[in-house]
Amino acid sequence: MSKKGFIFDLDGVIVDTAKYHFLAWKKLANQLGFEFTKEQNELFKGVSRKRCLEILLDIGKKEATQEQFDTWMIEKNVDYLEYIENMDASEILPDVPRVLAFLQESNIPIALGSASKNARPILEKVDLLHYFDAIVDGNNVTKAKPDPEVFLLAAKQLGVNPEDCVVFEDAVAGVEAANAANMISIGIGEQHILKEANYIFSDFTEMENSFVQELINR
Ligand code: BG6
Ligand code: MG
Repeated sequence: MSKKGFIFDLDGVIVDTAKYHFLAWKKLANQLGFEFTKEQNELFKGVSRKRCLEILLDIGKKEATQEQFDTWMIEKNVDYLEYIENMDASEILPDVPRVLAFLQESNIPIALGSASKNARPILEKVDLLHYFDAIVDGNNVTKAKPDPEVFLLAAKQLGVNPEDCVVFEDAVAGVEAANAANMISIGIGEQHILKEANYIFSDFTEMENSFVQELINR
């Protein structure tokens, strides 16, 4: 049995930050004079900040100079940071700490593989940073999911072969990235959206430690 590594996406897997991203993008859209809906926000899951703004401007049929674009990226993030300022452990998604603790007790290295540039402060706020042996986030990668770069880098930092890694993801682009990296992909969310994943669970309460143990033993 070769050494295994487990990689977690952040937003939508560990914490439900999509609602805060939504509020910040909606504020910008409204300020630019158009609406932005929760359904449209689905397109933003797992997608880099820059790509999100491109999609937002497409939705609002807005042109932007480079300077405006850069300003709006900053404004959105300032608003987002305000929304997450008071986040605490109560916003951790159900049973995430149980799975993290089980892996740690089993001496399995754990990495974060997130598109967000705000990953580290969020893990600090919710007091989960201590579980992670490696953090790869939007500050470390040049290619966004569905490119496998983020997960390949995480595997490298853990010192584990990509094919011995397991990835937890809530976004289609993230599942695609995990599959492209030759890793076992576990979708967290809805079956019909994450159908490309090797396994799908609606959330971690559905996943027993015995299943995690099976993944470790594979
Ligand atoms: C991903 C989120 O984890 O991070 C996306 O699912 C978000 O919605 C992306 O756009 C980038 O996040 P941030 O914090 O760097 O703006
Ligand atoms: Mg996500």
